[in-house]
Amino acid sequence: MCNFLFIFIRALHEQDKRPKGGLSRYQFFCIATAAIFAYNIIPFYFFPSITALSFVCWIWKDSITAQQIGSGMNGLGIGSFSLDWMMTTSFIGSPLVVPSFVIFNMLFGYIVVAYIILPFSYWSNAFEARKFPMVSTNIYDSTGHKYNISRILDSNTLSLNQEAYDKYSKVYFTTSLIYSYGFSFAQYTSSISQIALFNGRSLWQQFKKAYKDDEQDVHSRLMKQNYESVPQWWFYFIFFPMIGLAILVCEGFGGQIQLRYWEVLLACALVLLFLPVETVLRAISGLGFSLDLLLETIIGYMNPGKPIANLAFKLYASEAHLLASSVIYNFKLSHYAKIPPKVLFLYSQILSTVISCFTDFGIAWWILQSIDNICQPELLPRGSPWTCPSERVTYISSVTWGLVGPSKMFYPNGMYSVIFIFALIGFFLPIPIWLLSHKYPEKKWISLINFQIIFHASILIPFGGTVSYSSWFIIGILFNYFIYHKRKEWWTKYNYILSAGLDAGSAIFAILVSVSLQFQDIYGVNWWGIELGDHCPLAKCPTIAGIIVEGCPIIH
Ligand SMILES: *[C@@H]1O[C@H](CO)[C@@H](O)[C@H](O)[C@H]1NC(C)=O
Repeated sequence: MCNFLFIFIRALHEQDKRPKGGLSRYQFFCIATAAIFAYNIIPFYFFPSITALSFVCWIWKDSITAQQIGSGMNGLGIGSFSLDWMMTTSFIGSPLVVPSFVIFNMLFGYIVVAYIILPFSYWSNAFEARKFPMVSTNIYDSTGHKYNISRILDSNTLSLNQEAYDKYSKVYFTTSLIYSYGFSFAQYTSSISQIALFNGRSLWQQFKKAYKDDEQDVHSRLMKQNYESVPQWWFYFIFFPMIGLAILVCEGFGGQIQLRYWEVLLACALVLLFLPVETVLRAISGLGFSLDLLLETIIGYMNPGKPIANLAFKLYASEAHLLASSVIYNFKLSHYAKIPPKVLFLYSQILSTVISCFTDFGIAWWILQSIDNICQPELLPRGSPWTCPSERVTYISSVTWGLVGPSKMFYPNGMYSVIFIFALIGFFLPIPIWLLSHKYPEKKWISLINFQIIFHASILIPFGGTVSYSSWFIIGILFNYFIYHKRKEWWTKYNYILSAGLDAGSAIFAILVSVSLQFQDIYGVNWWGIELGDHCPLAKCPTIAGIIVEGCPIIH
């Protein structure tokens, strides 16, 4: 979301005369920001239900199957859409800033998974799926209820109580989550082969060039003439003490973090391995991917039964990865915007990290102190936003991968081992595309088929719900395909500014609302439309006899 700052700076930076009767970029930005700010009052305050409008559920109020097909939150989301920019972009990102080939790859992947794989797999009851909802991030026990984590957690040592686990139940996933995991693995492996095949040669040549001083492009020459570059030792000076501190934190405090020093080092190594792969994808497509699942799996096999170790390992690696990739991104943009590298290093890397460290901690502490029953949806007032959906996902994944551990769910003792085959398939799929693109070089579209992106589409279904996708595809295709081809001038001038403005307006709105209204327990007008759900209560119901869940009809 912070990209809007850079785009904004660039828009101000460029020579931008206002055309007669038109708007300058800066004016356009301000109008977009103000408009979305004003509009957001509707989904936030008066009518939160428009974040997920699922018409099928309103028509068939008593049919589980209809609601599973129509629900945008817990079902396939057919006929469901969102009128909320934040909902549309919070999981997949802004559809305005990705090129149209990415949108079409995503669309293909999404259609295959949401309309073919998920329904067939669910209704054929693969993995006993019909005991559970189709789309949800929750984990379940063998009776179709949400898994009761307190029953298997030894609260003194924060580790697994094996005896209680054996007595209770295995961990079951919803269909959407199984395939989300499967396609994540496929994305990791396809990334490696895709980048090696399509970009390997040019990456290697650029790498060699970077070590020689000749053959520089105009930007590098200008930067070199005007500014000194950041000395290598500045990086080392931060790198080594920080790893030392991380090890100290993990090994100290009586081992409460449960992580060992060589596991910290492994976390760093994994970041180094995947950083180039992920940043290339980001550079090509504007989409990145998360390493979370890979990290959770690795540490889950190495250190099973230890949820805190799992969390710590994942956070060390994924935060480092996120920051590293944003530093690279900032240096790249500042290279084109001609910002002195040393200044960028000091401000963006040192100062902003130090400040955000204290403010993040302070704000988190303040919120935890000042909101009663935070993260307990049953106890919160109606319409309250403090239900912590993403923290819940983190908690559940630390339980599945850390406390229970992948060896009980996947290879060798689990029922979901088969999804590791996805990793194998993912690795080989880019090869035929590469061969075809060489055989028919005149057909340019072949080389635009990208399995990393195709797999990416379905990974987010259980997290964001299917509803985020429909609006994302509509907006994306409208702007980056139709307007791009029909109104190129408008697109070139305003498209990115529009995206930046919408993000900025929404961000300012969210901050203002949380500090002004929500801290006073003011949550909006009390009526049917205040529900932040999609009014499809039956979409969460089991569809097989013998499973009894509260609020669901009993099936015979
Ligand atoms: C989960 O298990 C604990 C301990 O056995 C019990 O006290 C609690 O009521 C259970 N929670 C639910 C939601 O069933």
